[in-house]
Amino acid sequence: MKKLIAGNWKMNGNRTMVRTLISEVVNALDAEQRILDRADIAVFPPALYLSDVRHTLYGFPVISFGMQDISEYEDGAYTGDISASMAADAACTYVILGHSERRQYHGETNEKVKLKAELLLAEDITPIICVGETESEREMGNALKVVGEQLESCIPVIKNNYRDIVVAYEPVWAIGTGKTALPEDIRVMHQFIREKLEDKVPDASKVRILYGGSMKPENAAEILHIQNVDGGLIGGASLKTDTFLAIAREA
Ligand code: 13P
Repeated sequence: MKKLIAGNWKMNGNRTMVRTLISEVVNALDAEQRILDRADIAVFPPALYLSDVRHTLYGFPVISFGMQDISEYEDGAYTGDISASMAADAACTYVILGHSERRQYHGETNEKVKLKAELLLAEDITPIICVGETESEREMGNALKVVGEQLESCIPVIKNNYRDIVVAYEPVWAIGTGKTALPEDIRVMHQFIREKLEDKVPDASKVRILYGGSMKPENAAEILHIQNVDGGLIGGASLKTDTFLAIAREA
C-alpha cells in the first residue's frame, strides 16, 4: 500500500509562513519526484489559510490538503464552526478527527468523531480518525483496551462498499514530547487496529493506519517499515520542509 505522509501544522505560523512552507514543499517535491512514487503527501494548515495552500497547489495537485477538525452539525447557528460541506467546498481531501488535542481541550468525544466521520463520508472526504492512549493508560496495561473502545465508538458504520477512511494511532504521551512508542508496541497496536477494523468495515486491509507522535527523520525509517504502519501523521517535524521531506523519503 502506498504510504501517506501527512503534516498536521496545528495552530502554528501565519500567512507568510504558510505560503513559504507550502511553496518550499512543492519546489522540493518537484525536484525530487521519486518521493511521490512511494508516498502520498497531505498537509493540514490552520483552516484560515486553506485557500493560500489551495492556491499554491493548483499548479501541483499531487499534494492533498485538509482541515484539522470540522463541526458535528451540518449548518446553522454554530458560531466559529466550519461544516463538512464547507470543507468539501474548500476542496479538502481529508479531515483529521478526534485528535487528542481536540479531545483534551475541546471536549471531543468518540460519539462526535463518529458523527463527523459520517458527515465527511457523505461529502466524499476521507476522515483521518485519531486514537491513542495516555501515558497512565499504557502504564496500567490498558493501551489496547482504550484504543479498542475508541475504535468501537468512532468508526462510522460502513456496509457493503469500501469507503476510504484512515486511522491514526497517536499515543498521547508521544505527541510533542520527543518520546516515541517502542517499535514492538507500535507493531502490536497497528496489528490490533487492523483486526478491529476487519469487524467494522469492508476491505479493512485497504485502510491506511498511520503512526503519529514525535516522528522525525531519525526514527522515520524504523517506524515506517513496521508491519501495518501505512504512513505518518507528523506535527512539529512537518513545519520544516527538510524534516518533513526527510521523513517522506523513508516511506
Ligand atoms: P508531533 O509530531 O509534534 O509529536 O505531533 C504529532 C501529532 O499530534 C500529529 O497530529
